Amino acid sequence: MTEGANQKTTAEEAVEVALEVNGTVTKVLVPSRWLLSDVLRHRLGLTATHVGCEQGVCGACTVLIDGVPTRSCLLFAKAAEGLAITTLEGVLDDPALQALQEAFHRHHALQCGFCTPGMLLTALAMVRQQVPAEPETIREYLSGNLCRCTGYQYIVEAVAEVLQAVDRGDPAGSPALP
Ligand code: FES
Ligand code: FES
Repeated sequence: MTEGANQKTTAEEAVEVALEVNGTVTKVLVPSRWLLSDVLRHRLGLTATHVGCEQGVCGACTVLIDGVPTRSCLLFAKAAEGLAITTLEGVLDDPALQALQEAFHRHHALQCGFCTPGMLLTALAMVRQQVPAEPETIREYLSGNLCRCTGYQYIVEAVAEVLQAVDRGDPAGSPALP
């Protein structure tokens, strides 16, 4: 969270920001320096967006912006106006997300879970793009999401399983339309 997120908003420093999040446009009044991650967590209550480094390194704050995995700690909230923002809460009904969650569970691809929302959203983007289920490709896509617990191997295996299902045309792994 930015320093500003702990400060009382004053009329002088506040800006109105209209954000489209999970298909709904919401207007909030926040300090001009607030980041997208601040607004998602502290104004909209979308706490699946985790905040770790706040420096664009760990990927815990990953959301989809216009379908592309993006670090929400690197974007001022005001700069996100007009963009389609998707958090994990917005895709819980997506069969592809559910297939990924089940695969993560089966493969023990999470321990503390702190990295998991960002991992899942990055993996969901891979499924929607139908990228090849090659371990090196998966590792490259996930290279912006750090995990302190798992050693990555099980995550790669879980994502590969779903990508293979998509490749076979298995309905359980089929991505919903973005
Ligand atoms: S909190 Fe955004 S990349 Fe780490
Ligand atoms: S499961 Fe703990 S950081 Fe990834």
